[in-house]
Amino acid sequence: MGKHIILIGFMGCGKSSIGIRLSYRLRMTVLDTDKLIERQSQMTVSEIFDRLGEEEFRSMETACLERLLQEPEARIIAVGGGLPLRERNRELLRQLGTIVYLRVTPATVCQRLSGDVTRPLLQGANPEEKVRRLMEERSGIYERAADLVIDVDGKDMDEIRDELMEKLYKAGRWR
Ligand code: S3P
Repeated sequence: MGKHIILIGFMGCGKSSIGIRLSYRLRMTVLDTDKLIERQSQMTVSEIFDRLGEEEFRSMETACLERLLQEPEARIIAVGGGLPLRERNRELLRQLGTIVYLRVTPATVCQRLSGDVTRPLLQGANPEEKVRRLMEERSGIYERAADLVIDVDGKDMDEIRDELMEKLYKAGRWR
């Protein structure tokens, strides 16, 4: 089993915020695949979608996970919402460590991301419908990929972090 703690889930589920809180508690560095890809490519995620297309972005996600296999220290890794969709990426995630799914409802996503301009898949008309459709396509994939699931609706970030630490501990994934 890999040594990292991996956070997966839909856009707006709180992967980055929880990752940061967890990193303070566990004294582990948090990495974010979107940020690593932006740094590597010198483009924002929106620019990559715009200029190169979604498929190319997905390949960059795969390459990013392959590089993370070389990471010697245990890290918290927050991954982009669509990354677990590729079979190869799920395989790489399993090699990297314990996969935690932060499960959120479409209503919460819509509330949190209303007015967001950084997620190319939610731009244009009727973002609520897009969230609902994508969530329907993805929720089974997230669930099957996960070692642990945490429902995040109605909880504050510290509560979620504590629940996550407890579940990691009980699953023997953390001391
Ligand atoms: C995506 C989620 C985004 C980012 C890109 C595509 C997706 O990351 O990778 O916009 O397909 O769900 P966050 O989940 O961090 O928003």
